[in-house]
Amino acid sequence: MLSKHTKPGYNILAEIIQLGPTLYIEPAHPEDVPAIVAVHQESLATSGAYDEPQFGVTKEALRTFVDGEFAQRKQEYWRAAIAGGTGVFVARHSIDNCSSVIGFGAGQDLQPGVSKLSALYVHPDYQQKGVGTALLQKVLVSLKEPIVRLDVARWTGAVLFFTAQGFTATNKPISTPDPPKAYGIMLELIEMEMMRHG
Ligand SMILES: CC(C)(COP(=O)(O)OP(=O)(O)OC[C@H]1O[C@@H](n2cnc3c(N)ncnc32)[C@H](O)[C@@H]1OP(=O)(O)O)[C@@H](O)C(=O)NCCC(=O)NCCS
Repeated sequence: MLSKHTKPGYNILAEIIQLGPTLYIEPAHPEDVPAIVAVHQESLATSGAYDEPQFGVTKEALRTFVDGEFAQRKQEYWRAAIAGGTGVFVARHSIDNCSSVIGFGAGQDLQPGVSKLSALYVHPDYQQKGVGTALLQKVLVSLKEPIVRLDVARWTGAVLFFTAQGFTATNKPISTPDPPKAYGIMLELIEMEMMRHG
């Protein structure tokens, strides 16, 4: 699964250590919700999900959306998810006794045989440093069912990330109750899945 990280000169642990022994991943607490939402906002705003010219969503309009209705909705969503027992994990980075949430991931067992990765977001300042991989591993070991599915915005680097992690597109139609909708434009999502081993 981490085969691409075995290329010469790349070591996932080294990347994590580069953030320090100061990076750690643990279950989220209700008081993490504002920081989780802040990461969600920054990550979505820079994910490229709405960058396609046909969407006609400007960076300014996306920012307004992400800072407004989206943030409000996600406060409630993540509060309920943590309270409701969805496995939500945060990546924390601490310096000088000050700890900040730099990423989060969430997943739950959906039905016999199938679990779902419902979110994986890393703050843009900390992307491409192994944090997303570490968070994904933590969520995956918390899930029991062998098939793991997720919905991901088609136009993002996240599709490449999940492909590198062993997920493949299912080409099935998606029904997601809560896709972000900026200025009336629904995110174009694709479903990916992988079979967990062990
Ligand atoms: C997708 C995401 C969670 C990955 O987290 P991350 O910490 O950046 O990922 P990692 O550093 O662990 O892994 C990096 C690897 O993933 C791939 N990858 C990650 N982001 C990528 C991007 N934007 N474009 C291309 N490949 C990417 C690369 O293969 C990379 O490997 P490399 O460093 O050997 O080149 C993060 O980029 C993110 O939050 N994106 C925006 C939000 C989003 O779309 N989330 C998914 C919705 S559920």
